Amino acid sequence: MRTIVVNNQKGGVGKTTLALHLAWHYVEQDKRVLFVDLDAQGNATATLARPTPEQPRWQAHGCGLAADLFSPARLEIDPAPPFQLLAASSRLNMVDAALEVALDAIRIQHDGLSPLFDLCIIDTPPAFGARNLGALMVCDHLIAPIQLEDYALSGVNDLLKSIAVAEKLRGGRLDFLGLLPSQFRANSSLHRQNLETLVRDLGRAELLFPAFLALRQGYVEAVGRGLPVWMIRDNSAAAVAGREMRHVLGLVANRVALRS
Ligand SMILES: Nc1ncnc2c1ncn2[C@@H]1O[C@H](COP(=O)(O)OP(=O)(O)O)[C@@H](O)[C@H]1O
Ligand SMILES: [Mg+2]
Repeated sequence: MRTIVVNNQKGGVGKTTLALHLAWHYVEQDKRVLFVDLDAQGNATATLARPTPEQPRWQAHGCGLAADLFSPARLEIDPAPPFQLLAASSRLNMVDAALEVALDAIRIQHDGLSPLFDLCIIDTPPAFGARNLGALMVCDHLIAPIQLEDYALSGVNDLLKSIAVAEKLRGGRLDFLGLLPSQFRANSSLHRQNLETLVRDLGRAELLFPAFLALRQGYVEAVGRGLPVWMIRDNSAAAVAGREMRHVLGLVANRVALRS
């Protein structure tokens, strides 16, 4: 199982939108996919667990609670359904209180789940704590959506610091795919300026993902309907969003395949 974590300690930057599309991308390729929703707000859970008449294939089978990844009692999962969800719950907010237990548990639970799935996609909460650290500890790949509206280097530095902490705990590097500008407006001089400043401040071009997701209503509509954006066929703006998302997902998938 390859585990891809979507993380940034800021909220509203497009993590859940990207995590859902990553999962749907692999579901479409008939991979066995486990989606883990670590955000107690449960936006991804609401999208994946809600039955939609349009296309049941984009819905996930609920196989337990993500909070149970952080407790020692072994998770028992029926291996049959190809697309499964460890759902969010309010108990996730308690995980951060017992850091050591949580980190030991997620490592063991993740190892136990590994033979059952090809891919594990983890969506994370907008706060640093045991859940985010645990996700960074077990992941193979990390991608971090960022917003350029109110770009602050301190947020990016916090993220890089938490990667360093996780790498120390796990005793090895994780594959950081980069910062992915999301809700990007190429015609905004503020966004372009902030992007230039970011590249200059980072000093390492490989920290920036080689593509972006523009601000497009298609993404909002897709998640609202519980479908990948490329499945919205009745509107040409959504078709542009579909191609853009597929390009980003293709770049991620190439990198994942390369390192597998
Ligand atoms: N590229 C985008 N263009 C337009 N709206 C977006 C885009 N990405 C996300 N959104 C919207 O912005 C809000 C926050 O996105 P979300 O994916 O939930 O972010 P996060 O998980 O980081 O909080 C949601 O309402 C979502 O529909
Ligand atoms: Mg979210």
